[in-house]
Amino acid sequence: MTTKTKQEQDQVDDVRVHVREHYGKLAAERVPIVQESCCGPSAESGCCGSGGELSGEAMAHVSKLYQSADVLELPPDVTEMSFGCGDPVTLATLNPGETVLDLGSGGGIDVFLAGKRVGESGRVIGVDMTAEMIEKARANQAKVGATNVEFRLGEIEHLPVADDSVDVIISNCVVNLSPDKPQVFRETFRVLKSGGRLAVSDIVTDGPLPDEIKSSLSAWAGCVAGALDVKDYIAAIEAAGFVDVQVKPVYFDKAMVDQAVADLDLEDQVDTDNDAVYKSAFSANVTAHKP
Ligand SMILES: C[S@@+](CC[C@H](N)C(=O)[O-])C[C@H]1O[C@@H](n2cnc3c(N)ncnc32)[C@H](O)[C@@H]1O
Repeated sequence: MTTKTKQEQDQVDDVRVHVREHYGKLAAERVPIVQESCCGPSAESGCCGSGGELSGEAMAHVSKLYQSADVLELPPDVTEMSFGCGDPVTLATLNPGETVLDLGSGGGIDVFLAGKRVGESGRVIGVDMTAEMIEKARANQAKVGATNVEFRLGEIEHLPVADDSVDVIISNCVVNLSPDKPQVFRETFRVLKSGGRLAVSDIVTDGPLPDEIKSSLSAWAGCVAGALDVKDYIAAIEAAGFVDVQVKPVYFDKAMVDQAVADLDLEDQVDTDNDAVYKSAFSANVTAHKP
């Protein structure tokens, strides 16, 4: 583990403050996915765009993102707060009785879906660093009536979870937001039981992003600038001790990238070469095991 210089630590702090403010605002205003989202499928669904009917658009978004019809049974207050870029619960193939941890649980959508899969003998913990998101997730829990889930305030780089206590770690479009991804993977390794597994949906890149995107805090909070190159992502997971690391692209959608870039509110409003972004950033399913 390397010690950070003051400048590096300041950058980490800046990113964390900006990301927390961004998602705190989304949770407090309860901005639906049709108006503001981190990542998602095409503009066809309205995600990352603006306008449209609230619940219908939200349903279209989650139906496209999630493979299981379970998502359609959740209350609109939950599905409207889907900020993910994949379906980690399906990817994880959960079993009854398992203990699951969701990194960056947001409004709780994947926690509730996982809770249904693991049943009353299992347990799901959602961790999120944004107090407003935790508050929203707990309010959603009351609406869902889930008794086998809980939400904890904390950073995924310093998980409020005991060593060797979790069977499966899921996460939906969150690790890319972390300013210290190697530390996230070290923490996930620490809390997983031996033989435990990681099933994560995330944005990764294959090739460089334009500089104006890379240097924008707004693009970081929008799940683009913080995305790691796929080779570095795999290396960070392996360095933490994981084996059988696999990264599979899920979808690659030009319309989504156009809309996401348009929504980024880049500080300097320079023209961005979206082609460079489509060629580079994509959503991926990431799996790995703790030996
Ligand atoms: C893009 S949203 C995804 C929310 C949820 N997973 C979903 O699919 O709807 C990112 C969430 O991760 C949280 N988050 C971002 N960085 C975090 C960190 N370093 N530690 C804990 N939570 C974090 C944010 O507060 C926000 O709720």
